[in-house]
Amino acid sequence: EQIEKGGYDHFMLKEIYEQPSVIKDTYRGRLHANEGLIQMAGVEDNLEKFLNADRILIVACGTSWHAGLVAEYIFEEFTRIPVEVEYASEFRYRNPIINPGDVVIPISQSGETADTLAAIKLAKEKGAFVFGVCNVVGSSISRETHAGAYTHAGPEIGVASTKAFTTQITVLTMIALRLAKAKGTLSNSDFHRYLQELEIIPEKVQEALETNDVTKTIAAKFKDSTNCLYLGRGYNFPVALEGALKLKEISYIHAEGYPAAEMKHGPIALIDEHMPVIVIAPKQGHYDKVVSNIQEIKSRSGKIIAVVTKGDTQVRELADYVIEIPDTSDALSPLLTTIPLQLLSYHIAVMRGCNVDQPRNLAKSVTVE
Ligand code: G6P
Repeated sequence: EQIEKGGYDHFMLKEIYEQPSVIKDTYRGRLHANEGLIQMAGVEDNLEKFLNADRILIVACGTSWHAGLVAEYIFEEFTRIPVEVEYASEFRYRNPIINPGDVVIPISQSGETADTLAAIKLAKEKGAFVFGVCNVVGSSISRETHAGAYTHAGPEIGVASTKAFTTQITVLTMIALRLAKAKGTLSNSDFHRYLQELEIIPEKVQEALETNDVTKTIAAKFKDSTNCLYLGRGYNFPVALEGALKLKEISYIHAEGYPAAEMKHGPIALIDEHMPVIVIAPKQGHYDKVVSNIQEIKSRSGKIIAVVTKGDTQVRELADYVIEIPDTSDALSPLLTTIPLQLLSYHIAVMRGCNVDQPRNLAKSVTVE
């Protein structure tokens, strides 16, 4: 097992550090930035179905559901196709409206999650086209779907999902870009810019991993917290949910993710000097709005840990701690903002003496409902 961990203390840490290379594996042979091309066999073979889609329905559980939420923002922005994201467990039991014109995208690392599998069967019965995004090759979900794209993240052993999440987002971004090109919903210059940016994302993820030391210092300060709030807006709202999930899963600290602006409708009541608030505030996106959310937390003495774009000065003045990540466009920022949040939960869990790779009560794949 020590050998399998490749010199890392835990599988989770190894998998966090593998992200630059597995994201490359995910786009290898599919993304050709210089030629302005995206080629994914499953998408090309079914292009008409995607282009004629009245809507896209994403079904998933856990971290994969969070990747689906990020994809919702990306698909709607890039392709203008309406997207709905559902927990597979809710979807399957509520007599959902599914039409033959719908494209259903189940997302699953293991390809074995019982609820997601059941949702797929239901969607097929109702005549939808089902396109899977899975990591495990030959898994039940990959066999049950009409077509699909693998994430190529390699085996993920840590129960808390890390590299599966970022590679799922990579695959979904490529699909959205391919459809945007066919539909003409992105300008040529934006399309090419996204391709170029996606191609260099692994280097930026590598740079984001250099936040390891600062996240460790922050972890030491907050390891004894009993609650934690994660806030983000737009593309980074799902990242806030995922950050909170990571912390809950492995450190057993209660954490909640919220859209930053929604804070005033509830969570703000919880804020005092004992409440760490992790705010995802990259320069792109709704920066000014997030800055005013940070001010609201500060005036209530909350402890602010902010994930910012390198060189940021405004948030630095307000926050107790800042974690700097490289600049990229808003739509691709989840691939970077996620990294320090993974590291933060990892270090907190280690410092609390938790079983990082096999947290209590959780399973890597949930094959019963
Ligand atoms: C379990 C795992 C999570 C995972 C979820 C969905 O809860 O512990 O890490 O996100 O199942 O799994 P899937 O394999 O379908 O992505």
